[in-house]
Order: sequence, then C-alpha cells, then structure tokens
Amino acid sequence: MQIFLLHCTFVDDDGLIREGARVSLELIDKIKHDFEQQLGSAKSYEEFVAIKNSFLAKKGIIAGLLEQMRALPAQERPEFGKAVNLLKDFCQQQIDQQENQLTIQFFTQKNRQERSLDITARPTSEKFAGNLHVSSKFLRRIEEIFISMGFRIFDGPEVETDFYNFGALNIPQDHPARDMYDTLWLDKPGHLLRTHTSTIQIRAIKEFGVPLAGIAPGRVFRHEATDATHEIVFSQCEGLLIDKNISLSHLIGVAKVFLAEFFATKNLDIRIRPGFFPFVEPGLEIDVRCVFCKHGCSICKQTTWIEVFPGGMVHPNVLKAAGVDASEYSGFAFGFGMDRLAMLMHAIDDVRLFRSGDVRFLKQF
Ligand code: PHE
Repeated sequence: MQIFLLHCTFVDDDGLIREGARVSLELIDKIKHDFEQQLGSAKSYEEFVAIKNSFLAKKGIIAGLLEQMRALPAQERPEFGKAVNLLKDFCQQQIDQQENQLTIQFFTQKNRQERSLDITARPTSEKFAGNLHVSSKFLRRIEEIFISMGFRIFDGPEVETDFYNFGALNIPQDHPARDMYDTLWLDKPGHLLRTHTSTIQIRAIKEFGVPLAGIAPGRVFRHEATDATHEIVFSQCEGLLIDKNISLSHLIGVAKVFLAEFFATKNLDIRIRPGFFPFVEPGLEIDVRCVFCKHGCSICKQTTWIEVFPGGMVHPNVLKAAGVDASEYSGFAFGFGMDRLAMLMHAIDDVRLFRSGDVRFLKQF
C-alpha cells in the first residue's frame, strides 16, 4: 500500500523527516524505530520534552498521521488506523515510563542539592528500643535486696521544714554541723529542699510507730559546686530499723549483706571507721576498695578507699523528737548515695552523667 500525504512531516524512505513524504505501513514502523532511537539518546530533560512534543503533541507526527487518515480510501482506513493507534499507545507508554524516572531523578538531585529529603531513601532498619534509666534500675535492685531482708519502703517530701531536716535530727539552729549541708533555702521561712533522706526518720516513726524497719530512697539537694563526684541533685537511700535490743553489730550485719548482695560477691573488700553525724551515736562509715585504681586516684582522694555507707545508732534525742522511749527502744540508721554505688559498680567516673540525658551514656545500661 502506498499513499501520499500533504502538509505533514514524515520520515521518508531515505530516513529523513520531511514534509509531504510518502506514507506507508512500513513508514509507521520507521517512525516507531526513529522514536525509540531518539528517546534512547536523549541527554537532558529538555531533549526528552522536545521528543515527546514532536511525536505526541496536538500537532505532532502521530496526530498528523491520524488527521491524514481521512484522505485514505475507505477500505484501507481500518488497517492504517489500527497501526497508527498501536504506535501512539507504544509511544505514550514509553514517554510515561521515562517521565516517571526522570521526575524521580530530578527531585532526588534537587533534594540532594538542598541537603533535604531523599525521596528514594528507604527507611532505616536500625531500631532503638527504650530502656529504664540506669538510676531506676539500681533503685529497683536496692529495693529488692532490702525488701528481701524484711524492710519496707518509706516515702517523704522533697520540700521540707527545718524541723525534719535539722531540728529533729539533733542539729539545732546554731549547730556547726549545719555547715556539713550546703542548704538550698526556699523563700518561705523555715522551708528548704531536703539535704538528705534522714528527714524520713522522724516522719516514718511518727507514721508507723515502733518497731519498724524500712528504707527511703529519693532525691536530695545541695547548694554546692559540681565536679566528677558532686552534684546539686543526687539520690540517697535512707535506712532505719528500730526495735528492742538493737546494736551496732545489727547495722554492720545488714550493711555487709546488702553490699555483698549488691555487688554480687562474697569477698567484698570493706573497712569500717568511726564517723560523725549529730543524729547517730556512735556513728560509722563503711568504705569499699576503689574500683578505679590500685594505688590512689582523684576519685578515692588517693586513699584507695571510697566511702559508701555512712550510718550509726539512732541518737536518743532523735528517738525523743519522734516520741519513742529511748530506754526501751534502740535502732540504727544509714544513708548511702545510690549514684555513688552505681558509679562503683560500673566504674562510671562522673556523677553528672546520671542526669545529663546523654543517650550515648544511657544506652550502655
Ligand atoms: N544523712 C547523712 C548524710 O547525708 C547520712 C547518714 C544517714 C548518716 C543516716 C548516718 C545515718 O550525710
């Protein structure tokens, strides 16, 4: 079949596109081939658009073919029309496919340039599970050990009065022992942020009466310069046991069992020294061997020992302030720093890390 069309640009037999070329079914094949070739060698988005327009636009090659169909003898139209439509579908499909790819490339490049989202990036497969804060883990462990020894858990306020923090603990107004505690006083006269958990001693006795045994873990506050071993806010755990015939050996026994259990060892290297606190008599300090050094370092203040467990027998004046008959009852109290124990356990060399919120630190536990 051979037909001649006017006013339309076609690829002629010699492969050149020209107006008024001879049109045949073979020519449709040629156009298809030409389209594929041009599309395959397009080097830019602009070139791609130009090819798309020259073949598929309203006045493009394929539209021209369809328009000229009217000039064909009626019996040849169906076959020719079908071939042109197949060509049109083929070209459209190729263009759509390429357009999708080019759009993605274009946006990816643009986003990379703008250093923003890469829409081709897949979601990361790394997943971080949350976990309890290291201090919460230690708190639970400490509570478990004491509960297993028959102690209960006491709680009390962080905003305290002079009476519970000092007065009732045998530290009257002008007692020099107040200097041991750099206190954060509040605007309301006589009110402060508790400097230690010993405030619970009086509160617990008043609430539960004697005999009693319990611990009171919680936050305490001191107005002091911070360094690797000092923080403004830190955690203490108070312990109190009051009954008839309680002696210092009960305290030492409880301390040893607790420390051995906490550090999960039977031969913990400890030493016991006298210590002074106005609310206990006698008072003592239990130290454990420094885990950071062998011959002394800044953490153990060159002594190779670290103070971990201060305590003593509850002073009769404290029992009196709480309304207990000191001739009938006696008891012991202790108050250790929970952060300090955690530091020893994991060789953490800076107490400030606990409340720093540094995920790199927290992820380790
Ligand atoms: N409350 C004391 C302190 O913070 C520690 C302590 C508690 C000492 C109980 C003896 C008995 O320094």
